[in-house]
Amino acid sequence: MAKQDDQFKKVVSHAKEYGYIFQSSEIYDGLSAVYDYAQNGAELKKNIRNYWWKAMVQMNENIVGIDAAILMHPTTWKASGHVDAFNDPLIDNKDSKKRYRADVLVEDYCAKIEGKIEKEVKKAAKRFGDAFNKEEFLSTNGRVVGYQEKINTILSRLGKSLENEDLADVKALIEELEIVDPISGSKNWTEVKQFNLMFGTKLGASADSAMDLYLRPETAQGIFVNFLNVQKTGRMKIPFGIAQTGKAFRNEIVARQFIFRQREFEQMEMQFFVKPGTQKEWYEQWKENRMKWHLSLGMGTDNYRFHDHEKLAHYADAATDIEFKFPFGFKELEGIHSRTDFDLKAHEKFSGKKLQYFDHEAKESYVPYVVETSIGLDRMFLAIFSNSLVDETLEDGSERTVLRLPAVLAPTKAAVLPLVKKDGLPEIARKIIDDLKFDFNVIYDEKDAVGRRYRRQDAAGTPFCITVDHDTLEDNMVTIRHRDTMEQQRVKIEDVREIIMKEVDMRAWLMKM
Ligand code: GAP
Repeated sequence: MAKQDDQFKKVVSHAKEYGYIFQSSEIYDGLSAVYDYAQNGAELKKNIRNYWWKAMVQMNENIVGIDAAILMHPTTWKASGHVDAFNDPLIDNKDSKKRYRADVLVEDYCAKIEGKIEKEVKKAAKRFGDAFNKEEFLSTNGRVVGYQEKINTILSRLGKSLENEDLADVKALIEELEIVDPISGSKNWTEVKQFNLMFGTKLGASADSAMDLYLRPETAQGIFVNFLNVQKTGRMKIPFGIAQTGKAFRNEIVARQFIFRQREFEQMEMQFFVKPGTQKEWYEQWKENRMKWHLSLGMGTDNYRFHDHEKLAHYADAATDIEFKFPFGFKELEGIHSRTDFDLKAHEKFSGKKLQYFDHEAKESYVPYVVETSIGLDRMFLAIFSNSLVDETLEDGSERTVLRLPAVLAPTKAAVLPLVKKDGLPEIARKIIDDLKFDFNVIYDEKDAVGRRYRRQDAAGTPFCITVDHDTLEDNMVTIRHRDTMEQQRVKIEDVREIIMKEVDMRAWLMKM
């Protein structure tokens, strides 16, 4: 656990030191759980968004993208169920005066048991060496099976209590498990209460005529209310999808773990409208598609897993999370939900307008079913950033910190370094930049010895360094150094663009899907 904490602290400080993420309003001591994306962070975030948009909208003939407003008519949230049911169960500790999400306290308790299972697996793997069979061990080792049964019993009870709104039982569970306040160690808990997560705001200048609005807690509703407009104007035939990316706001009880859980965040969502009865098929298809998208970035199959929901949201008939192994353990990165016709029907009811699709072949109208894929852009950022940050010991015993961002997403693709600040080398470096800048973000760096500059770019995540030296004056060639392998090649200046393009072109990455 301490090792995980250390790694996470490293991620947070590296993100600041290398211009990825700053605390919002830092000069005023910051605003809790609100962050600003800095010069490199904004680029990385934009690249992730593009990577998603291309895979979703550009590469699917039957998916189009929109950009709906953050502010929506307040009845939207009545219809969607958010006014009545978008709550989290909160509990206060009377001694520390700290507030927690009751379900998260229980889940964290289970994560600790999961940590014990992982320890047993590691120990056994060491003991049995090559003969170790993890699957078999997990299903036969008495202690591990016991731990897993305990987790299942706890989570199943939690799921049922939440579904039945039995908050007294959630509190009883916390007491039975003897869960203590992580800060004070106290078991002095209040009752569990529901807390609505939507941020309210007002539209209009005068106090009496102002209208109460909400900042959207998900982008999905902007898609639902535009379903028929898009279908008609785009002449879309079912099955088809509408995608969008944008800000969402939730007054999280406990916003924590850096950008993992924030009050202002960005979602990338897609609603896929299908014929009733076919939703199960499409749900499976989208599970597969989305996992392929993740794996195309090369961050390791072992770092992802599906977690099917036991407790389904009020609108879903199936739901799963794609979980990623963050520095603090496996947690939700993306949700895939089969949302039935709940939302469109609810908007029909509350607006009095028909939101139906006319199927010309079957000559019938129906309210489509919806399969949704919903991923947090900030969470995806954290997954990529934390997974990429590694400390390496090199062959000569020296250490380097390297941010192995997938090259396609790296904020800066290359740094151009004149070996010295004189003899015409800076001028050649500038010329190379002037050519490359039409295709890539490139930077110029002439400060410090070249070895230090390499290390600086490694830590910033730049996939290539291009060094101009005295030989360049003679042979028109430069040294191109690869961040991950540290390999150096001598190449013609005119070939540099193509070498970089080969590694960073989105086309090649998306073709891995
Ligand atoms: N439209 C469905 C929906 O909003 P969700 O599971 O509540 O479903 C989808 O959210 C995704 O949005 C999550 O998988 C997560 O990646 C991201 N997300 C949710 N709350 C977040 C928060 N407070 N901070 C950062 N990301 C969040």
